[in-house]
Amino acid sequence: EAAIPFHGARQAGVTAPQQPATHLLSFDLPQTSAATDRKTLRSVLDALTRTLATAASDAPPDPRLRGGGATRLTSLVGIGPALATRLGLNVPDSLGELPPFPGDRLDPHRSNGDILVQLCAADRWTLTIVAELADRAAHAAGAVPRWTQSGFLPHTAPGTTPRNLFGSKDGTANPDHAAAEKWVWGQPGAHRNGTVLVYRRIHMDVAGFAALPEGRRDGVIGRRARDGVPLSGTAEHDEPDIYAKNPDGSYVIPATAHVRLASPRFDGGARMLRRSYSYDDGPTDRGLLFCAFMRDPAQFTRVQDRLAARDALGPFLQHRASAVAYVLPGTAPTGTFGEQLWT
Ligand code: HEM
Repeated sequence: EAAIPFHGARQAGVTAPQQPATHLLSFDLPQTSAATDRKTLRSVLDALTRTLATAASDAPPDPRLRGGGATRLTSLVGIGPALATRLGLNVPDSLGELPPFPGDRLDPHRSNGDILVQLCAADRWTLTIVAELADRAAHAAGAVPRWTQSGFLPHTAPGTTPRNLFGSKDGTANPDHAAAEKWVWGQPGAHRNGTVLVYRRIHMDVAGFAALPEGRRDGVIGRRARDGVPLSGTAEHDEPDIYAKNPDGSYVIPATAHVRLASPRFDGGARMLRRSYSYDDGPTDRGLLFCAFMRDPAQFTRVQDRLAARDALGPFLQHRASAVAYVLPGTAPTGTFGEQLWT
């Protein structure tokens, strides 16, 4: 197998098929003067570009890393909204912090950050080594580590949907190419090949959800856990029909079902690209690293406002960390991440 190309118009950490393992690293840029901080940011982005490009190549110099075809390393680099404001960077107008949501229990030490890196690979070993290299490079250039988080997926056949810790197939209803061009990637112009990542570390009450009878679990999601088929349909990839009714007049997909409240039908067809991972930080803290890419973080806010108010899944979830990042356009072999930021 060949390495997943690092260079290109868009970063492979968004475009390549989801890998079994992920590791997120968040950094801060110490605050001095805007001019100095802009220079530091340039050096950090330069260092990350070089480090991640060599790590993903067919012959990484670190003897602990095998060639790119074996590791399947992909990455993405993004910029936090606070840094963009502080340094007056040229980022999409939509980029901003999320508002607070009812029920949030966000840990600031695991949230936010000026620079976000998401690594994905075939195995955890690769991620640990590349995280060390990225950390060293970013630190030498002036960035300070803020938090890291690792996650994983079950091994699933290519083209099939991975399950989350509740046992549901997660990531079925993702945008097709045309919808992604409209709702995931940026507006025509400098940010066309960028996108915005919304990250939420969501604790899941796995035992509580498992204690529900199977029929109730399916009603909470609006899809059958067994095969991911929407309650209104016959195949996993049928679009959930939120208007379908039972003979008694009730909705086939219940009024508070997760997929009903998250339906693009309530939001002018807006879709986000969800590429979530599970996490396991000990017996009392397991859940989902919700990772979704979208043109405008307000797309997340509109869905989460509906979910926070009524989602039948809500009692089993607690949002414990959050971050937003402008995922930069990709780079050519001669280039550096973030060339669009300075104009
Ligand atoms: C769909 C689980 C959090 C937005 C789904 C589906 C499952 C699921 C099983 C159906 C399969 C699929 O289409 O992927 C979960 C779990 C969550 C969670 C376990 C928390 C741990 C969220 C959050 C949002 C969200 C925070 C956004 C605010 C969506 C959307 C869909 C969806 C947009 C697709 C709806 C459609 O087009 O049919 N989720 N979800 N989810 N979820 Fe979540």
